[in-house]
Amino acid sequence: MIANSRMDAFRSRIGGFAFGGDYNPEQWDRSVWDEDVALMKRAGVNLVTLGVFAWASLEPEPGRFTFGWLDEVMDLLHAGGISVDLATPTAAPPVWLTHGHPEVHPVMEDGETFGFGNRLHFDPTSPRYREHAARITRALAERYAHHPALAMWHIGNEYGPTPYTPQSAVAFRAWLRRRYGTLDALNDAWYTRFWSQVYTDWEQVNPPEIPRSWSNPTRRLDYKRFVSDALLECFVAERDIVRSCRDDIPVLTNYMRFYRHADYWRWAPEQDAVALDIYPDPGQPDSRVAAALNFDLMRSLRGEPWILMEQAASAVSQWKVNNVKRPGLMRLGSYQAIAHGSDSVLYFQWRAGRGGHERFHSAMLPHSGTRSRTWREIEELGGELPRIAEAVGSSSTAEIAVLFDWDAWWGLTETHGLPRNDFDYPGVVTDHYRPLLQAHHAVDMVGYGSCLDGYRIVVVPNAYLVDDRFTEELTRFVRGGGTLVCSFFSGVVDAANQVRRPAYPGAFRELIGAHVDEYWPAREGESFGIGFADGGTGRADWWQDSIHPETAEVAAWYTTGLLGGRPAILRNSFGAGRVHYLGTRPDAGTLARVLLGAVAGAGVRPLLEGAPAEVEATVRSGADARYLFLLNHSETGPAGVPLPAAGVDLVSGAGADGTLTLPPLGVAVLRIPLPGSGAAPAGSAAT
Ligand code: GAL
Repeated sequence: MIANSRMDAFRSRIGGFAFGGDYNPEQWDRSVWDEDVALMKRAGVNLVTLGVFAWASLEPEPGRFTFGWLDEVMDLLHAGGISVDLATPTAAPPVWLTHGHPEVHPVMEDGETFGFGNRLHFDPTSPRYREHAARITRALAERYAHHPALAMWHIGNEYGPTPYTPQSAVAFRAWLRRRYGTLDALNDAWYTRFWSQVYTDWEQVNPPEIPRSWSNPTRRLDYKRFVSDALLECFVAERDIVRSCRDDIPVLTNYMRFYRHADYWRWAPEQDAVALDIYPDPGQPDSRVAAALNFDLMRSLRGEPWILMEQAASAVSQWKVNNVKRPGLMRLGSYQAIAHGSDSVLYFQWRAGRGGHERFHSAMLPHSGTRSRTWREIEELGGELPRIAEAVGSSSTAEIAVLFDWDAWWGLTETHGLPRNDFDYPGVVTDHYRPLLQAHHAVDMVGYGSCLDGYRIVVVPNAYLVDDRFTEELTRFVRGGGTLVCSFFSGVVDAANQVRRPAYPGAFRELIGAHVDEYWPAREGESFGIGFADGGTGRADWWQDSIHPETAEVAAWYTTGLLGGRPAILRNSFGAGRVHYLGTRPDAGTLARVLLGAVAGAGVRPLLEGAPAEVEATVRSGADARYLFLLNHSETGPAGVPLPAAGVDLVSGAGADGTLTLPPLGVAVLRIPLPGSGAAPAGSAAT
């Protein structure tokens, strides 16, 4: 784990898992604030995020600051023993800024101006926006830097807008000059002799055309990279201001689930901890799989515990139908985040608002107050989390890594002109992750810049665009004895989105031990039989490689269709390692067979043997003990979990050995002492 003194200081101040949420006192009369603090104490709240969207209440006119109310709230919270994650309010510029300076508004990809009335209505490349954001940030930081309630800086909120404005064109050109140096290099990278797109002056270079026209795929790709960097610059500018006033506490911003506009691998090193907002749809039980993947991604981005910054106490208000979280589900989802490395359980929001777009969004304290199911569940969880406080700061390791990279995503989904243009990158990665989760394996996520040392198996789903750095790292990894599972249409183009030569799949041809002469997207409704050498069968659809093994052996063939009798799935030996290649999209059972077979072949053991797929298992390791988190996602049935070791369930306080039965939506956190740490119960330690 990276040394992280600011987060260490934060953890020791909070003294357990952070519990609380966004608090918006500016929306309420003063008369409510005392009750808020009293109820927060009752619920066990120890951290609130203040001021996220409070710019208009803090600076009602340019340069006139009204901090009085915030002074009072900070003091009240401090008196109540509640720490503050103080936000810069720059995600929602006030109307005086945008009305006075319309160029602050972004123009979106469809050419429409993102007007006033929502939030995030700012162009991150607007010098005017940046200047005003810096001023409120400095004023806030200077005033509260040494307030005793302050525990953390929170910059902006869910950075996001993608602008297509004249000022973003200027910033894009500056970014391109830094990336390419010369126009010749840009013309080469963008392959501009195609359709006579050669640039002769930097001033001619603009953001990509709106998508009614086909446009240069490398320009589109670079624009995604540029926007992510432009947003990051806004974060960094505010971060540096708050740090200049106080630099011994963490600075962070909050990310979103599968958010495609910001490359979080580039963002994560710039902040003291990664933080995530997550809203799994309670109407879709499978949403827990994508939640787990996102949690693993957050932990992997910095290789350390992270902050669950927002979740819903029950229903959200942004979808067509906003289902409630049935009894127990909020608790289960909270433990799920902790199980995957979170050091907090925080919510949007503390008290349900009476007006505005989110007036029906749930809150820790709902409209119906303390006589509500949600409040009871919040109070119970707040009372329960201190029982597992010793697990705070503990780390996780995995021997399986799954690639999740923004360049891979953007190449596949943002640039058009592919054999098929309906790839769902997060969906594809989730499909490869699901069988691993259900088989109780620990999984890390990796990106193109990650070091693969320490893993035994790396899964690379549909990585159409790969850079040379990752290609080299992956090759080194497999040559040294690692196992790779790679799916179709991977390694095809380089970082400039140009087809690698001399044959598909360029970057991975030797690893896979085969070349592909044609990509055959399936026709609507078409599917194919596949057969394995051992007589096993399955089905596949959506895509077929017309593949020609070179050094690879065939693991499965198509049994039907025009490619009947030809290879569908390959196995190759490369150096001391093994490669499994999926030239098609197999059904879930077949995918699980290949993946889990490869995992077993690589010598990776699951955390649990013989537990049902609805049970999720993770391990966090502390100084004296391992914590085995067991979560039963079944809403209807209890689950028997054969334990790998004896321990004490910190949640119930009961000792556990043999088989532990979890009720529907039940949770256990088994403390398994490390050998030599004293008082070890009988049984071997969990791995
Ligand atoms: C988040 C956002 C919050 C709130 C929440 C509603 O994305 O950061 O401010 O809007 O969604 O679910």
